[in-house]
Formats: sequence, structure tokens, C-alpha cells
Amino acid sequence: MIIAPSILSADFGNLEASIDRVHNAKWLHVDVMDGHFVPNLTIGPVVVKGIRQYTKQVLDTHLMITDPMKYAKAFVEAGSDRITFHVETVDDPKYVIDMLHELGVAVGISIKPGTKVKTIKEYLPFVDQVLVMSVEPGFGGQEFMPGALSKIRELAMLKKTINPNLLIAVDGGINEKTGKECKEAGADVLIAGSYIFKSEKPSERMATLQ
Ligand code: DX5
Ligand code: ZN
Repeated sequence: MIIAPSILSADFGNLEASIDRVHNAKWLHVDVMDGHFVPNLTIGPVVVKGIRQYTKQVLDTHLMITDPMKYAKAFVEAGSDRITFHVETVDDPKYVIDMLHELGVAVGISIKPGTKVKTIKEYLPFVDQVLVMSVEPGFGGQEFMPGALSKIRELAMLKKTINPNLLIAVDGGINEKTGKECKEAGADVLIAGSYIFKSEKPSERMATLQ
């Protein structure tokens, strides 16, 4: 499994210390929110740039913003390695996937809890990652929505024939119980915020998920 700590639950007054606490994670998940696609505001490229100077970890950037193409280049220049956009935000997902690949990053496509797998099926051959939201995007610390499990199962079936290298990621409400269920359903990447960072020992929580 790839375990990706979500820095949304980190200490933004001391981000360096938070990142140090999860330094053995290969990926860091970075949640970008615009107060429009989701009812919360978080960080922009300037913060990604700061994180990039501090760590070599893979920066897995989750754009929860209405106009991903408007800001994608800025995030790539700031140091994002992977960029995931929401299918609900764009008219032409294939165009966005191609543009992001041209910028030199790995590309993910994400679906909210209310969006069906069939919405993204035709794009699965072209992406590196699919991100199943298991909470309504916007906030950390919410409860896992079990409906995500059948989507992961469906994607795990599809990927066998369509794109064996596809990474299936799940984001929201991940802990040792829901993480295990997601793994059994076929997930490759567990994104976890509060479970890891709201603990005294984040590295133990990561090891438990691993
Ligand atoms: C929610 C974000 C998540 C969030 C998960 O919109 O996309 O990455 O940080 O937080 P937890 O793990 O606390 O549900
Ligand atoms: Zn996220």
C-alpha cells in the first residue's frame, strides 16, 4: 500500500514539524480548496513551493477547485509531482488529462461520493490514478462513507483490462478499520489526515495502515 498522509490535518503554524513527523511516508497529500467547489479554503502554490523546498516526498496534489486548468501550471512549477482534479469541475476531462501530462506530472481523476464510476470509465486508460472520495470533499475528520467500497471494487475490476497500472486511491475517513476494508476492495493508496496527524505518534498510525 501507498500511505499518503494528508497535511490538511497538520499543524499549519509549524508545517515543518508536521512533515518531519511523517518523513517516512513516500507521498504527502496536499488538499487545495477554493471556497467554491467546496465550502472551505486552504492553500495555494506558494505553500506547495515552501513544502517542496523542505522535502523530497512525492507531493500528491488534490485540486478541489472549480477551474483546475487555471492553476495547474502554478502548482507544477511550485513542485507538485501528481495532480488530481475532480471530474465534476471540467467539461472535457480528456483535454485536462492531456494538458496535465504535458506539464510533466502524473494525473489523477477524482469522483465525489455522489458521482458514479461510469462517469470516468472512458478516461481510465489515460490517467495514472483515480481518487475515490469517501467523504464529501471539503473537510478532514469526517466519517467514512461505505458507498466508496463498491466503487473501489468496480474500479479494481475495470483496471484489470483497461489499465493495470492504474492506482486506486481513497480519501476521507480512513483509519485502521476502513483502510483494511478499502484494501480488501482493491485500493492501492490510502489517504489519511486526522487518523495520522491527530495522533501523538503519527508514524505508528502510518505503520498500522501499512
Ligand atoms: C477532504 C480531503 C481529505 C482530508 C481527509 O476533502 O480531500 O484529503 O484531508 O481527512 P480525514 O482523513 O481526516 O478524513
Ligand atoms: Zn484530499
